[in-house]
Amino acid sequence: MPHIHVSAFKRMPLPAASGNCRFDFIATNVEYDDEHLVATSVEGKPFFLLVKETPQGSLLKSDKITRPSATYFAQEGLRTYAELSASEVKHSNVPDRPKNPHLASDSALKRIEELAEQFPEAEEIRIEVGFGSGRHLLHQAKANPGILFIGLEIHKASIEQVLKQVNIQQLENVLLLDYDARLFMEFVPSNTVGRIYVHFPVPWDKKPHRRVISHAFINEAIRVLKRGGRLELRTDSENYFQYAWETFISLQKVKLEIFKNQEIAVTSKYEDRWRRMEKNIYDVTMICDEESAPLDLEGDFTFPDRAVDMEKFTSHNMATQRFEGGFLHFERLYRIEESDRLMYRIAMGSFDRPEHLYLIAGSSGAAYFPAPPVRSRTNLEAHARLCELIYG
Ligand SMILES: C[S@@+](CC[C@H](N)C(=O)[O-])C[C@H]1O[C@@H](n2cnc3c(N)ncnc32)[C@H](O)[C@@H]1O
Repeated sequence: MPHIHVSAFKRMPLPAASGNCRFDFIATNVEYDDEHLVATSVEGKPFFLLVKETPQGSLLKSDKITRPSATYFAQEGLRTYAELSASEVKHSNVPDRPKNPHLASDSALKRIEELAEQFPEAEEIRIEVGFGSGRHLLHQAKANPGILFIGLEIHKASIEQVLKQVNIQQLENVLLLDYDARLFMEFVPSNTVGRIYVHFPVPWDKKPHRRVISHAFINEAIRVLKRGGRLELRTDSENYFQYAWETFISLQKVKLEIFKNQEIAVTSKYEDRWRRMEKNIYDVTMICDEESAPLDLEGDFTFPDRAVDMEKFTSHNMATQRFEGGFLHFERLYRIEESDRLMYRIAMGSFDRPEHLYLIAGSSGAAYFPAPPVRSRTNLEAHARLCELIYG
């Protein structure tokens, strides 16, 4: 993770800009005033730089919640902040070189908000969950130029690697998303997807609630798949196979195919490893047999156009609101320096797939940072609660 150690955190008059970077404000943790967030934007992508002050010096890195997918943005923001503020750098792992030419275009890398507002349309769409090294995704995309592939991954280094390959191979039918596949499914339109690949998911034997395959995921898969569409699970874990089989078969009605040691067109790094170890490989494929009702997501993430009552606002610090299927939690309060505004780090949405983001409030109203939550049922419900709490 890119970071810079400086002898002391230096402020500068804000807003400030240099090259493709802009710095707008600094927010300081109300409880621990040695923790700050610097509102940064690189090439128009907003995120926070996180500053931790210690008596020995300060550490600058990117904030985990708002960090953009490609490390380039964090590196650029860190280096530029240190330069503009004339900080004395003690140690840095940020390379002083321009953007990798294969990352010059990131048009294949989509923000979840873009897809949630306008889901792409294509004759056929296929989704790959957790594409890892991307071998299968890239192979499929190359072999099927008429099909749009949406790859989901939560490991940023893999996303960057695969984005480079998409650019090098000039693939125009791949979209990559740095997002949890389980949450993503909630806003894919109904009856639009031909295949969903879940190849070698993390088995999470000790934390089964983190598994991709679950009742909720399967039900969403049935909704988004076209009639005849397939959800293909491939695993080397006997335990996961058993679990998945039991989860699928407990549905009221389901059509399944099971294979053991089936050869497929391209093997992933994981598969090669398991094959060398002579492990068995299991496929469980669910074939969708029905037409689903259209996705119905009413509501939006706007706030009333008036000042927030700040006394009421601060009273929610550390509070949690629960509702059917979800929650809203005010995790941490910040004051925005040189302004009358305050900011919460909040968690909202469903319990097993919460969304983390920031909420800024002041005399000019309220706004999410860096962007509104993703348009899912539970997030819309959480937003309605939030409005009631801070404006009601
Ligand atoms: C064991 S690897 C397999 C990678 C690849 N499918 C293959 O066969 O080589 C599992 C991948 O799934 C990703 N992953 C785990 N949970 C995920 C989720 N909820 N959404 C998206 N990706 C996820 C992990 O980051 C990891 O790269």
